[in-house]
Amino acid sequence: MEKPHSKKIVGPEDCRCTVIEALNCPKADACIPVLMLAERIRPPINGLQGRFSKIPQHLNSLSDTFQEEKESEEPANELHPKNSMNDLNGSEWLYYTRSVWVTSFPSRWGHKVRRKHGANKPPDLMRILIEFFTKPGDTVLDPFAGVGGTLIGASIATYPRKAVGVEINPEWAKVYEKAIEQIREKEAKGILKQKLIVGDALEVLQKMDAESIDFIATDPPYYLHMKITMSTGDYPEHSNRKTNYNMRSDKAKDLANLSSAEDFFDALEKIGEQCYRILKKKKYMALIIRDAYQEGKYIMTHARVAEVMKNAGFVLKGDIIWTQTGMKLRPYGYPYAFVPNIVHQHILIFRKE
Ligand SMILES: C[S@@+](CC[C@H](N)C(=O)[O-])C[C@H]1O[C@@H](n2cnc3c(N)ncnc32)[C@H](O)[C@@H]1O
Repeated sequence: MEKPHSKKIVGPEDCRCTVIEALNCPKADACIPVLMLAERIRPPINGLQGRFSKIPQHLNSLSDTFQEEKESEEPANELHPKNSMNDLNGSEWLYYTRSVWVTSFPSRWGHKVRRKHGANKPPDLMRILIEFFTKPGDTVLDPFAGVGGTLIGASIATYPRKAVGVEINPEWAKVYEKAIEQIREKEAKGILKQKLIVGDALEVLQKMDAESIDFIATDPPYYLHMKITMSTGDYPEHSNRKTNYNMRSDKAKDLANLSSAEDFFDALEKIGEQCYRILKKKKYMALIIRDAYQEGKYIMTHARVAEVMKNAGFVLKGDIIWTQTGMKLRPYGYPYAFVPNIVHQHILIFRKE
């Protein structure tokens, strides 16, 4: 294994050591919280708790969690015999019920290949969701699989889960193939290669059996594609289209290609109805969505998505704000007007009751 910090470390994303190794490294202050979060859920994390006292308070947004654990009266470190949802112990369960997650995951799991897709999700994040909402042996679905954040998340779970993805753009399916081959060669030999179906989510889901899926984890396109998003045409020099972040396919059924917001939400509702049909009773769907700022207006996409999924039959159970630290800030409205840098996403938690 590569020796921790044997090469130049630019930021936490370059750190490849484990929590234990980092605690013994004089340069690892910034890495420790990141590594703790990435490894938090993996047993035997509870055996490490005594070592966390070394972490400087100002660095560690997680330290209050450990304080809570110390004060907790629950027998938190064992799997509850009535836990039919996952295989987390009490303290792990509690930790992930927080409504705000501040994270920064190392760039790994084929990241160099996957980053071609501007909205790819960290497999470590998807793994956490999968490990919370499923048990080993369960099957996970991602109807908007992109380059496979969810599929890889299922493969790297402590006890891997089976997953199936649907993606309309064959280019992204090829990127997943390349990423998973690379991971299986270099990062985690022999991990599961999951099934990725190229097609329109609505058509593919319509052919799937009712109540055949244990958990849906997904992030649909955020909204319709627009040429300029974060500032109006008055200030094109501050728009975010300088980078080539056009992730649309040329397919008419690509949600980002639909002609109006109403068409977008209608299409999402129809796919939501299929998700509801194929999910088993009492099971969950985690849907990640980012609000948008288009044509000079802030759009609470997450609120509309919550509404359409309610129409599709789901009950909304939670709204986790996920903030990825280290996002670059852009001076969109400066120095004329307030234009937000949207650095958070909503992880909406739905249940089929
Ligand atoms: C936000 S991205 C998902 C990224 C993914 N989570 C990952 O880690 O790569 C949304 C994806 O939905 C795909 N998509 C759009 N419309 C679709 C449709 N009708 N059926 C299936 N996939 C679709 C897009 O091509 C895009 O890759």
